[in-house]
Amino acid sequence: MNAPMTIPRSVEPFVARRARLAAAMGAGVAIVATAPERTRNRDVHHPFRFDSYFYYLTGFQEPESVLVVVAGPEPRTLLFCREKNLEREIWDGYRFGPEQAGEVFRVDEAYEIGQLDDMVPELLADQPAVFVDVGSDAEWDARIIGWLNGVRAKVRTGVTAPGEIRDIRHILDEMRLVKDEHELGLMRRAAEISSAAHVRAMRAAKPGMHEYEVEAELLHEFVRHGARSPAYPSIVASGPNACVLHYVENTRRMMAGDLLLIDAGCEVDGYASDITRTFPVGGRFSPAQRDVYELVLAAQAAAIATVREGVHWEAPHEAALAVLARGFVDLGLCKGSVDGVLESGDYRRFYMHRTGHWLGLDVHDAGDYKRGGEWRPLQPGMTLTVEPGCYIRPADDVPEAFWNVGVRIEDDVVVREDGCEVLTAATPKSVADVEALVGTAR
Ligand code: GLY
Ligand code: MN
Ligand code: MN
Repeated sequence: MNAPMTIPRSVEPFVARRARLAAAMGAGVAIVATAPERTRNRDVHHPFRFDSYFYYLTGFQEPESVLVVVAGPEPRTLLFCREKNLEREIWDGYRFGPEQAGEVFRVDEAYEIGQLDDMVPELLADQPAVFVDVGSDAEWDARIIGWLNGVRAKVRTGVTAPGEIRDIRHILDEMRLVKDEHELGLMRRAAEISSAAHVRAMRAAKPGMHEYEVEAELLHEFVRHGARSPAYPSIVASGPNACVLHYVENTRRMMAGDLLLIDAGCEVDGYASDITRTFPVGGRFSPAQRDVYELVLAAQAAAIATVREGVHWEAPHEAALAVLARGFVDLGLCKGSVDGVLESGDYRRFYMHRTGHWLGLDVHDAGDYKRGGEWRPLQPGMTLTVEPGCYIRPADDVPEAFWNVGVRIEDDVVVREDGCEVLTAATPKSVADVEALVGTAR
């Protein structure tokens, strides 16, 4: 076998997750497909990225694959994948084929993907429910309906079609929300590589460089550690661009006096890291930049300090907001009292996003934030970002020293019983540490 890169270190967690899924279903059939391959332009595909749900349950990275789980007293797992094909393997590389995939990934049965249309209606016959991610892809929805109609077409032979189409995400999102040790190991590695990339970017940055030159440093560090893809497009935003929340052009030439906001993280075995750091391109914060930076840093510290088992989802956001609102008043950016600023929402002019999101196989990971209308309490193993910021655009009523000051500081944390583990703690963020590092790669 010549494809070791495409096998997870251990398949045990994937076997266990399929068993948990089957138990949660009780009865019925789950059908989970990987992502389709997408064309970029003529004869060129986007790099393939598996579907997160499919990968979570299988660890299998090949395109054109579908997992079927039949729940019940003796659950069955079936993998459909590409057939062995020496001709295609000469052009495109190794494929497992059903026989080997079944053995390596420890499913009960494995078949060629071409058999799916014949087999699924048989598997659905006399089952009470089908569990799918209905509504996420119109073509896939149409195939599921086609299979259900295939069963209905045979009702005169005595079979019944599933009476219910259920959203499998209700089960899988809850499972994905609490990370197991296998997942946390991968997330720690992703965080470690991304931390090294941010350090490399800080050391490399200097006035006169283009933002994309710094992006290249990030990518270099990701790829040289085997993290072949960023988890999302890197934001390398200098000067006024730091106040554009989703800036990804990364083409501007940086100047002394600019702040540089970098939001970048790599993906390791599908797991994302998500780090933001902000630093002065010339190596020293101006007094106004430093005031805002220290404020955001204090807001982040207050938010991180709230994270522990039992605290509700909104607690870090509320803690960050309280610090930011006080700071906005103290710096003269907002008028009136702190309570007034919080109540009126005036702070939104400078802080218009939320303080974090779930993190995992997707950078904005699966999982509900509320339960029964209430922010949900945090549980050990949940993983989230903590990322307050402040973005000040030029305006007549804002002192010029603050114009174009855009700061965000983002770390990734795992909820623990008595606090949290900061996965990205190795990424420098104190004023002294950052100033000591910027531009030192001469
Ligand atoms: N990098 C995406 C985010 O911070 O949410
Ligand atoms: Mn984030
Ligand atoms: Mn981010």
